[in-house]
Amino acid sequence: MDTILNGKVAVVTGGSKGIGRAISGRLAELGASVVVNYASGLKEAGETVREIEDGGGIAIAVQADMCRAHDVAALFERTDNTFGRLDILVNNAGMLLNQTIYDLTEEDFDAIVALNIKGVFFCCREAAHRMVDGGRIINISSTVTRMLLPTYGLYAATKGAVDQLTRVLAKELGSRRITVNSLSPGPVDTELFRRGKSEEQIQGMAAMAALGRIGTPADIADAVSLLVREESSWISGQNIGANGGMA
Ligand SMILES: NC(=O)c1ccc[n+]([C@@H]2O[C@H](COP(=O)([O-])OP(=O)(O)OC[C@H]3O[C@@H](n4cnc5c(N)ncnc54)[C@H](OP(=O)(O)O)[C@@H]3O)[C@@H](O)[C@H]2O)c1
Repeated sequence: MDTILNGKVAVVTGGSKGIGRAISGRLAELGASVVVNYASGLKEAGETVREIEDGGGIAIAVQADMCRAHDVAALFERTDNTFGRLDILVNNAGMLLNQTIYDLTEEDFDAIVALNIKGVFFCCREAAHRMVDGGRIINISSTVTRMLLPTYGLYAATKGAVDQLTRVLAKELGSRRITVNSLSPGPVDTELFRRGKSEEQIQGMAAMAALGRIGTPADIADAVSLLVREESSWISGQNIGANGGMA
């Protein structure tokens, strides 16, 4: 096993399912102790931790709602109390609402902004306070910011905000050798992506990628595993597509 992250501590928000679960597993394989955050899926979070432990890794599951700044602070406090340091933050928790701008409600707006922007902002702020020099922050954005697809307007707006936050935070933390990048998956085969889509729509999206398929959570974990390496220390303030050449 490649143990480049031995002794390091990673927080993965929304680490219990889908892309976050694959990222948690990969960081643990690389030797990091992983804090697997979740909101309500205790069972899935427990499974994620067990998988990591069965593979010889170290992980804990921590319930905290990333829409609430108080919960965000508690997540990082628990990380500190358990492991005593923070080296890597992956801001992965996010939600998607496929709806035209015409039909979106104020409640929809508040819900998605609370998780996709407010949650990412307060996690970044905690990391700015707590992360060791030379750390890594990876914010999960989306390729929809480049695709201009109908029904993705509000979601794309939140991910555009994530990209901007990433660029500014990279400048603010550069003197501590902390790199901050956003990673934009294309369509990835998870519960979030499949909800409300027909198989025909899914195959239509697969055809938009140069590589002709939908991504897997492991594809995104692979991209994260590149950004946490020492060899990536000169890459900061960037938005990187992990989308099979979709856009
Ligand atoms: N799948 C795609 O095609 C795709 C494409 C581009 C970008 N992305 C982005 O990738 C990220 C992960 O997406 P996914 O497809 O893996 O989603 P998913 O399968 O729906 O998993 C979402 C994860 O986030 C957690 N979560 C949800 N609300 C939360 C909250 N308020 N506080 C803390 N955790 C919360 C969930 O835990 P609980 O079950 O406990 O709520 C779960 O672990 C998102 O930021 C998404 O926008 C996805």
